[in-house]
Amino acid sequence: MDLERLLTDRLTPAFTAVADGPVDPVVRRSPRADFQSDAALALARRLGRSPREIAQAVLDRAVLDDVCATAEVSGPGFVNLTIDDGALAGMVAALAADDRLGVPVTAAPETVVVDYSGPNVAKEMHVGHLRSTVIGDAAVRLLGWLGHRVVRVNHLGDWGTPFGMLIAHLVDLGEAEAAQELSIGDLDGFYQAARSKFDADPAFRDRARQRVVALQGGDPETRRLWRLLVEQSQRYFLTVYQLLDVTLTEGDFRGESAYDDRLGAVVGDLDRLGLLTDSAGATCAFPPGFTGRDGTPLPLIVRKGDGGYGYPATDLAALRLRTGELGATRLLYVVGLPQRQHFAMVFAVAGQAGWLRPPARAEHLGFGSVLGPDGRMLRSRTGESVKLVDLLTEAVTRATALARTKNPALDEADAAEIGRAVGIGAVKYADLVTDRTRDYVLDWERMLALDGNTAPYLQYAYARTRSVSRRAGTAVDPDARVVLTAPAERALAFELLGFATVVHEVARTMEFHQLAGYLHRLATRFSAFYERCPVLRADGELRASRLLLTDLTGRTLRQGLYLLGIRTVERM
Ligand code: ARG
Repeated sequence: MDLERLLTDRLTPAFTAVADGPVDPVVRRSPRADFQSDAALALARRLGRSPREIAQAVLDRAVLDDVCATAEVSGPGFVNLTIDDGALAGMVAALAADDRLGVPVTAAPETVVVDYSGPNVAKEMHVGHLRSTVIGDAAVRLLGWLGHRVVRVNHLGDWGTPFGMLIAHLVDLGEAEAAQELSIGDLDGFYQAARSKFDADPAFRDRARQRVVALQGGDPETRRLWRLLVEQSQRYFLTVYQLLDVTLTEGDFRGESAYDDRLGAVVGDLDRLGLLTDSAGATCAFPPGFTGRDGTPLPLIVRKGDGGYGYPATDLAALRLRTGELGATRLLYVVGLPQRQHFAMVFAVAGQAGWLRPPARAEHLGFGSVLGPDGRMLRSRTGESVKLVDLLTEAVTRATALARTKNPALDEADAAEIGRAVGIGAVKYADLVTDRTRDYVLDWERMLALDGNTAPYLQYAYARTRSVSRRAGTAVDPDARVVLTAPAERALAFELLGFATVVHEVARTMEFHQLAGYLHRLATRFSAFYERCPVLRADGELRASRLLLTDLTGRTLRQGLYLLGIRTVERM
C-alpha cells in the first residue's frame, strides 16, 4: 500500500484522540526523514499546548512499530518518520509478486457509460474531437482495468436538418462520386459544397427541405442515401481511430438517429410531469437555477417551433436509456467546455424527471481548446481548421525521423513502429498531461522532447528498463530478496508503492494529468536510481534486487502508459 496513506491511517486516530476531534495528519515526503507530519503545529493554538508536546502525545499513541524504524519529534513540532528497511522491502516484494501492481479489481463494479469522440457525419473531425477521443479512451481503459462494466458510446452527429442539404448534394454528385469524396476523408469539401448551394440556390434549398421531410417520414430511398452518407463517414472515422490507436470500434457508434423514435415519448413524459412550458412557439423545460445574465430563467428547448426535436431532446432520450435500460450508474460525457451549460441543464431536467437519481450520477468531463504556437485556436497555414489525420500523420513522420537520427542503425520496420508509438503517444500525452479544463498549445518540439514531461521521455525510460533486463542475461527472479539501502533506491520504492493510490484517485476525478505526473515522477526516480545505484555491476543479492526494482518500474510504466492509451516499445 501507498506509504503516505498507510502512515495517515496510523496517525489519524492518534491525532484525533489528542485533539479530541478529527484531524488530517497531512503526511508528506520529507528531505529530513522519509515522511513528515506537521499537523501538530496547526493544532497548538486551539489546544493551548506546545506543538512539540502535541507531537509527542501523538507518537505515544500511534501504532508505528511494524512500519517505522524511527518516529520522533523534531524542530518546532514536526513528526518525523523513517520507514523500516525490512518493512519497505517486504512491501516492494509483495508489489512485485502482484500481477496487478497493487491495484485490486474493484469490489463495487458498476456500469459506466463513456460518451466520447462524437464526430459529425460529413464533417471533418477537429481537434476538439481529438481531445474527446483521447480523454474518453483513457477513461475507458482505466475503468475497465479496475473491473467496471464500461459501455463506450460514440454519439455520432448523424441526424437533423443539415441532412436534407447533404442528401440533395449527394444526389447532384452521383453516389459513386460522393462515396469517393467521403471515403478519402474530404468531408469538409463535401459539406462546404452542399452549404454554398443551399445558401445560393433556392431550388436546391427546396429539394433539401423535401429531403428532410422524406428522411423523417421514413422514405426508403432517402433513408438509403442517408445511410450511405453515414457509412462512408463512419468508415473514415474508423481509419482515424485506428491511426490514433484507440479502442473505439464500429460497434460503438450509437448516433443521434438511434434515439429518434424515443423523442416523442421523452417529451410526452416531461409534459405529463408538468415540466414543460411553451415559450415563443417552442416547447421548453426551465430547470431551476439556470438564469440568463438579466436574471430571466433559461430554457432548454426540447421541441422547436417547427415541431422538430433537437440536440437537447436527443441527449435526454440517450440519458434515460443509459440509466433506465443499460442500468448505468455513472455517466461520463467527454465533450468540450463550450457545452457545459447544455449538459448541466440536461442533467437537471433528467433529475427532475427521475431519470437520473442516486446512485446514478452524470459528469460532464469538459476540456479546453488546442491552441497553435501563436496562442490562438489551432489553424492550418491556409487558415482552415486543422485536419486531424494531417496532424497525426505529421506526428508520426516527425517521430520516425527523430528515431532515425537517434539511432541510424534502426531498420525500416523498427523505425516505423517506434515512430508510430512515439508520434501518437506524444500527441495523446500532450493532451493528458495538462489539467483537462485548460487550453494547451500544440508545440511539436516540446511534445517530442526526450527530456521533458513527455511521452517519449516515459517511453524511453521504459525501454531502458527493458534494455537493462536484456543485458542482465538472466531472467528476473520474482522471489529475489529485496534489499533497499541507497537513498535513490528507497525513493524509487516509495514511488512504486504509490501507483494504486493514483489510479484510484484518477478513477474518481478523471484527472489524467495526475497519472501523467505520477509516471513522470516515477521515471525521474528511476533515472536517479539508475545513475547512482549500479545494477548490472552489482553482485549477488543486490544485483537480483536491483533487477527486480528495474523490472517492477518497467511494468508500472507500461501499465500506466497503457491506461493513458500510450504504447511502449522494447527498444528505442
Ligand atoms: N457531435 C457533438 C459535437 O460535435 C458531440 C456529441 C457529444 N455527446 C453528446 N451526448 N451530446 O459537438
